[in-house]
Amino acid sequence: MTDSAQPRTAFSEALAAARSEAESGLAAATDVETVEAVRHQVLGRSGTLTVVLRSLGELPSDERPAAGQAANAARLAVEAAIAARLAEVGEGQLEAWLAAEAIDMTAPGAPRRIGHLHPLWSVERDLREIFHGFGFEVFEGPEIETERLNFELLNMPPDHPARDLWDTLYVAEPGSVTVGAPRPAEDGTILRTHTSPVQIRAMRELGAPIRVIMPGRCFRYEAVDASHGFEFFQVEGLVVDRDTTMGDLRGMLEEFARAMYGEGTATRFRPGYYPFTEPSVAFDIGCLVCGGDGCPACKGSGWMTILGGGMVHPVVLRNGGFDPDEYQGYAFGMGLDRMTLLRHGIRDLRYLLGADLRFLEQFSGGR
Ligand code: DAH
Repeated sequence: MTDSAQPRTAFSEALAAARSEAESGLAAATDVETVEAVRHQVLGRSGTLTVVLRSLGELPSDERPAAGQAANAARLAVEAAIAARLAEVGEGQLEAWLAAEAIDMTAPGAPRRIGHLHPLWSVERDLREIFHGFGFEVFEGPEIETERLNFELLNMPPDHPARDLWDTLYVAEPGSVTVGAPRPAEDGTILRTHTSPVQIRAMRELGAPIRVIMPGRCFRYEAVDASHGFEFFQVEGLVVDRDTTMGDLRGMLEEFARAMYGEGTATRFRPGYYPFTEPSVAFDIGCLVCGGDGCPACKGSGWMTILGGGMVHPVVLRNGGFDPDEYQGYAFGMGLDRMTLLRHGIRDLRYLLGADLRFLEQFSGGR
């Protein structure tokens, strides 16, 4: 009995060992890959259980049926255990993936920085809008100009004293900067000192009738302080048509002042001087700071000059390609920077182009 029981006991023990190896391996497995590794280790071609099953043939024939039954039951149990564990870890893995990729729909969004108009551009936009309402189109010219357009064709021949009104930045001849004082470029290339040369360009490019505004950046050789920049902005206006009069200029400017500064805005014309207009005027509005009583901002006068203008000089009309006996025109030019300072009560021009976000962010509300 003892002898014959020996092989069968060894077989049962091997079977139990293979089974418990499978069970402990499965219990420790937490992902699909490890469960599959356990399957291979136990049921593979040379897996522990496979080897035990193969040894069945070595048992005495009378023991084989019972041992075979036990072995079969063990194999089925292991297969079932693998299948069950596979389902468990598979589901766990899916849940882990879902948890890792979960989006918290209630989390607050990351704030996004949104830009806004620079205060200069808000003023320029308002001007464009107002003049658009008067039937004006926008016409633009280059920032780098020739002396001919910036001065000569605007009725300021070389050495004309009026050129001194504009401290000009000359573009140097290439290479000349390295040998002492830079020599101005021979073709008279300069940075435009005002937007007035665009008048000539507009006249030459567009036929009459002309109604344009010409906004843009200008440059002057200035000692920079709170009210002077070497870089600033103007908006020029030009009308060329038959029977254009000073009355048209005045009526249009008064309407403009009301649209820009309110219905009750006081206005006045004063005589002025510009070489490219005849007669020339300065256009004033009631002081925006004190309302006309007199204060430091208007130097006690109660008035502020917001632009210069006049009837286009016959020489300028001719230079633009028009016969002054047939056509007349009016022109005007205003500074965008000062209008912006006044609108917001800003005391120093240098803030405008200083690129300081602490300054600029104060204008995120639009006007
Ligand atoms: N260009 C002048 C300046 O920069 C402004 C100006 C005055 C423009 C009279 C005009 C004008 O068109 O008619 O000071």
